[in-house]
Amino acid sequence: MALWHLLLNWASTLLLLLLSLLFVAFLGFCAYIKYKHMKYDHIPGPPRDSFFFGHSPTFFKIMEGDGIVYEKFLEWSETYGPVYRINLLHYVILGVSCPDATKEILMSSKYTKDEFIANRLSNLFGQRFLGNGLVTARDHEQWYKQRRIMDPAFSSLYLRGLMGTFNERAEKLMEKLSDEADNKGNVKMLPLVNCVTLDVIAKAAFGVDLDLLNTSSPFPKAIETCLKGMVYSIRDAFFQFNLKNRPFIKEVREACRLLRRTGAQWIHDRKTAIQNGDDVPKDILTQIIKTAGKEENTTKEDEEFMLDNFVAFFIAGQETTANLIAFCIMSLGRHPDILERYILIQKEVDDVIGMKMDLSYDDLGKLTYLTQVLKETLRIYPTAPGTSRDIIKDMVINGIRIPGGCIALFSSYASGRMDKFFKDPLTFDPERFHPDAPKPYYCYYPFALGPRACLGKNFAQMEAKVVMAKLLQRFDFTLIPGQTFDLVDTGSLRPKSGVLCSIRHRKHSQ
Ligand code: HEM
Repeated sequence: MALWHLLLNWASTLLLLLLSLLFVAFLGFCAYIKYKHMKYDHIPGPPRDSFFFGHSPTFFKIMEGDGIVYEKFLEWSETYGPVYRINLLHYVILGVSCPDATKEILMSSKYTKDEFIANRLSNLFGQRFLGNGLVTARDHEQWYKQRRIMDPAFSSLYLRGLMGTFNERAEKLMEKLSDEADNKGNVKMLPLVNCVTLDVIAKAAFGVDLDLLNTSSPFPKAIETCLKGMVYSIRDAFFQFNLKNRPFIKEVREACRLLRRTGAQWIHDRKTAIQNGDDVPKDILTQIIKTAGKEENTTKEDEEFMLDNFVAFFIAGQETTANLIAFCIMSLGRHPDILERYILIQKEVDDVIGMKMDLSYDDLGKLTYLTQVLKETLRIYPTAPGTSRDIIKDMVINGIRIPGGCIALFSSYASGRMDKFFKDPLTFDPERFHPDAPKPYYCYYPFALGPRACLGKNFAQMEAKVVMAKLLQRFDFTLIPGQTFDLVDTGSLRPKSGVLCSIRHRKHSQ
């Protein structure tokens, strides 16, 4: 009995000690938050919703209402100027739209990708996702080594060789649309172009035929689930502690595992082919295998590293391009005054490719108006809407002293829609990107800028041009009235309606 009392006594003392420690830690954390506030509060910014959570409640409200946080960034950029402050717990994030600071930070390898986001993309709810691959690597040397190895798979010489894949996969979409046009049907474009871009990346990057327009596959859903998981993991620090989110988190982990399992299988198949002396393409998969180094005795970590890059290319190489194509169709069909441009762009396509079935690499260079249309689409609808960097050392932005120890956030959505940079920003006007028009000065960066800019920029533009040119060559499409032009934020931006079109054969192509 006495022992029992003694144990109970110890336990309650221990508990009290633990609670006191927790309380002291909490007070310490609050003091640290206060210190961060004092350090950065001279930078203009919206009033905090709460001392502890900072501006998070505003973001939760937007997310709960299926809103677009980038709209808030736009509003704050316009209200508080070229650099404004956001607080999330002890983190300080600066929204930067100042072109000179954008140039200084994004163009230099001194400013690494920010740790907060990189960590959350590296592991999704405890499951390795993008790991330490090309997109998330923060250490310059580690990133540069990977980038140097991947670069040849994106050289113009190699991309030229992908024209066959771009044409062939886009042709399958045309066949599908032709059936719809025969039946005078309506089609939702986004899911269809999603299949095409996924088919293209699987074939061009990994040498695998998926044919998603005609067969079902778990990949589109898995990618969507991972992207959603990314958004929650980044924007809601407490998401995983809420029991009601457990089933979704399980789904996200399973989706990550599916992508990584698929990668492991495809890498295994490719390695076997290499060992058998088969002729294998010098594609992204071959380069991914090279990034892991010493092929004979690859370690578990090397394997994981290859899978990081596999997942990065599978996701980065698909979703953003599909959304670009869907937004482009939406933009062309949306305003009656654009009809004129529609005629202009169709004429350009007719002049350059006529009745030819397949486009050549040189044709793409001649489709200058289509290039302008795609650039303008990405100005209003940047499908990967921003990037961020750590600011380690003190600096000055727009005359404001910025102490080191914060994150700089660059929203191409906000910059692209600011009156200050683009007159009548919501007017879709491809003339802004006419070759003779002045180039936007560090306020337009849908593919990011500098050393960490998108590796697949040319790949994506070529693919989008092939799909759009074939579409314009063969069909007249109009948007079904009454659909919303709202956006959905799934990590990347996509059109909420899915872009519902009525589609008809063009007279000459029947
Ligand atoms: C319209 C289509 C696309 C858009 C708008 C886009 C946009 C971007 C942006 C903004 C970044 C920087 C991300 C960040 O800083 O966190 C990025 C990085 C990247 N993108 Fe893209 N992307 C597109 C298509 C592609 C394609 C097709 C591929 C591959 C086939 C690709 C591969 C990559 C890679 C590997 C990176 C990381 C580069 C590095 O850090 O070295 N992207 N992309």
